[in-house]
Amino acid sequence: MQSFFRFSSAALLLAALASPALGQKPAGRPAAARPTPPPADQLPPAATPVVAHHALVVSAHPEASKVGRDIMQQGGNAYDAAIAVQFALAVVLPVAGNVGGGGFIVYRSQNGAAGTLDFRETAPAGASRDMYLDAQGNVVPGRSTAGPLAVGTPGTVAGMEALHKKLGKLPWAKLVAPAVRLARAGVALTAKEAAGLNRTQADFTKYNPSSPPVFVRPTPWQKGDTLKQPELAATLQRIQDQGRAGFYQGRTAEFLLAEMKKGGGLITQQDLDGYQPKWRDALHGTYRGYDVITMPPPSSGGVALLQILQMLEPSNLGQLGYHSPAGVALITEAERRAYADRATYLGDPDFGKVPVAQLLAKGYNSQRSTSIRTDGQATPSAQITAGPGLPRYESDQTTHYSIVDAQGNAVTCTTTLNGAYGSKVVVAGAGFLLNNEMDDFSSKAGVPNMYGLVGGAANAIAPGKRMLSSMTPTLLVKNGKLALVTGSPGGSTIITSVLQSILSVVDYGANAEQAVSAPRLHHQWLPDQLDVEAGALTPEAEKTLQEKGFNPKPRASWGRLDIIRVLPNGQLEGGADPRGDDTAVGY
Ligand code: DON
Repeated sequence: MQSFFRFSSAALLLAALASPALGQKPAGRPAAARPTPPPADQLPPAATPVVAHHALVVSAHPEASKVGRDIMQQGGNAYDAAIAVQFALAVVLPVAGNVGGGGFIVYRSQNGAAGTLDFRETAPAGASRDMYLDAQGNVVPGRSTAGPLAVGTPGTVAGMEALHKKLGKLPWAKLVAPAVRLARAGVALTAKEAAGLNRTQADFTKYNPSSPPVFVRPTPWQKGDTLKQPELAATLQRIQDQGRAGFYQGRTAEFLLAEMKKGGGLITQQDLDGYQPKWRDALHGTYRGYDVITMPPPSSGGVALLQILQMLEPSNLGQLGYHSPAGVALITEAERRAYADRATYLGDPDFGKVPVAQLLAKGYNSQRSTSIRTDGQATPSAQITAGPGLPRYESDQTTHYSIVDAQGNAVTCTTTLNGAYGSKVVVAGAGFLLNNEMDDFSSKAGVPNMYGLVGGAANAIAPGKRMLSSMTPTLLVKNGKLALVTGSPGGSTIITSVLQSILSVVDYGANAEQAVSAPRLHHQWLPDQLDVEAGALTPEAEKTLQEKGFNPKPRASWGRLDIIRVLPNGQLEGGADPRGDDTAVGY
């Protein structure tokens, strides 16, 4: 497969040559700077990555990426751009962008200081452990996934304000302005967003019975139709004028509380007043000479990612070959063990002890991997630990953006309403969608949520508690220099998508577009099956894995990786997932 390397080197060189030479950083050797090619079975070629000389935004929507680029060209830093992108996505990507949800940011400043911001939703004070169970103690289907009772207290606006106060540079109003403009003037729908709105018409009507939102209309949406959102524009205007108070107090809060009252939701003014985003120390690990900086609990993502990387590091994945049966077997076994731990141990660290240090102790993970068979045979999940394995349902509705500015500040943010269009409740008068994040709690020990994830006491519902997440915004640093900015949506598959982006770059020598485009695999312990995206395995590899007990199952595409690879010459290479409308825009 030498042709792959010829292709990608040439592509890189062409991209570098095509980029405008605006005040370039010192010229490097983009084509020659590729990692040493591993020997066999390489990743397939992909589109030519965008290469930027100064700053780059990769997000799920071209308009949002442009907004972020413009902010940086106007003198804003990566944190300013993140705020502008977050608000722009709330307008142009209603399926997942949000002001009514939450998220996580991992950042690293130009001086090397790293940290995280947790603006995850919280359970309202009126929430209780068994709130989604009937009198017999069974989970009532749908209660935690749609309608006002599924909504956690939103964290996004408070999170953005905290980010601005600590790390922003440009005035707040300037960062919210593009979103106000987009909501007021309207945006042209992409084919995917039009299809999403059309698919959700019945639910929008069902969950907003007294006030049909702007998303509802008698004839189907088409690509190119303009979606104007005047009520959302007014809400964003209040946020622009008043910051956090423009959302959690006054008119916006009144609209939100009225919505709760109408539909039996729990959020009160006290919940809104009490919401606090949290700055948390990042988790640090290492993998093949890279420092890995990632999200701690209440995300499970960072812990699971670092556990898997620890279990894989002793093996030579590059030599085994990309998606070879032996390589896939190892990766799958490591995933199986980490997801089993996730279900048992992880939850909100402010509400109970999460044994992060023990789970990340090198000795623990090497002990955990001694049960991985050396003959490539699967270990049935039932032998890892007991638990039910039911089919799970996946939506692709969270979103991720990666940003690096000209000074080298980096932001990786995954933000979500949880399911597609969250709870489907649009706050009447205020025009924004509310999340259905409460479903990320474990409604009942051992009963799978909408991603098939099981949990127990550590992730039980309690007032004010944050529901466990899989969102895994992650940075890689090599020899003190930023190397990779990565993250993805995808519910339970987020962790393995982010893992695969890292393995593609570090072990298989991929460029950024190859890393996001490569067909994916996923195993989450329960159910005991290996999800296979079309093209991820050769028929021979699939047959071998079947024979070895891995239970491969075809599955429609998942995840939207949006990543930035920093080339050795300092240029920024964007990987925008071709499964969505994701776009890299830089200068
Ligand atoms: O926090 C989590 O793990 C989930 N609420 C993320 C949901 C998600 O990624 C859905 N979309 N693909």
